[in-house]
Amino acid sequence: MSTPRVLLFDSGMGGLTVARSVRHELPFAHLVYSADNAAFPYGAWEERALVERILFVMGQLIARVEPSIVVIACNTASTIALGQLRERFGVPFVGTVPAIKPAAAQTKSGLVGVLATPGTVKREYTQALIHSFASHCRVVLHGVPRMAEIAERKLKGTAVDLDELKQEVLPVFIEESGRRTDVVVLGCTHYPLLTDELAKVEPWVVRYIDPAPAIARRVADVLGETRAVEPGKLVPPHNSVLLTSRREDAEDALAAYAKMSFHLPEFLDLKV
Ligand code: DGL
Repeated sequence: MSTPRVLLFDSGMGGLTVARSVRHELPFAHLVYSADNAAFPYGAWEERALVERILFVMGQLIARVEPSIVVIACNTASTIALGQLRERFGVPFVGTVPAIKPAAAQTKSGLVGVLATPGTVKREYTQALIHSFASHCRVVLHGVPRMAEIAERKLKGTAVDLDELKQEVLPVFIEESGRRTDVVVLGCTHYPLLTDELAKVEPWVVRYIDPAPAIARRVADVLGETRAVEPGKLVPPHNSVLLTSRREDAEDALAAYAKMSFHLPEFLDLKV
């Protein structure tokens, strides 16, 4: 069987947290990372425009990469577009959605926090996850305005402003009838890039749930059922990174991608 080609997709660098786990789970796979940096951040986009944008960009990426599988390493995109992506493209998709189910299973206090983008927090999909898996818990959903950008700045070399980060995350730490939030879902793939800093600003110790290892296992399962693509096409080489724009910060971003072993850049120029 030929090597499977895995296309990872996010609005920016958050999907690198998923790529890391996929690389660990499938060290033999051919990985291509793609980021719609022209449209970053996705968190504040209006729903219909965002779906159209994702479908358009994905069409270009699939034509270019010819992947065996696509990993939507973005909660904001998965919770709104996964169904339509599967309908439109004949390639398997694995998505990333807030890990509310494992959080509800692990909480002892019954108080669960969810940090996600303003978009993900508003989605019916997210409400349905709470309804289906966490009706016995009190779930505090918080749409975090700037945390994805804080994570990107960190990867590009700027020290994290801990006061700013603390203000972003404090709303999910609640105390009620002698109980405290004990589990916090990292419902945006950018947030696990900030775990060291989160440990410095949390008012008490909680367990953070990063879904990346579970997503990587799901990718392995789906690939097990799928035929890999043939080698030899003119596709981007292993460990390439495809960006939709040469934004002014693209050079800093490329250095950050290179540190995570995605060092062969290509620009698609897909303006918003
Ligand atoms: N990394 C993305 C997610 O998982 C979103 C960041 C953004 O573009 O706002 O939701």
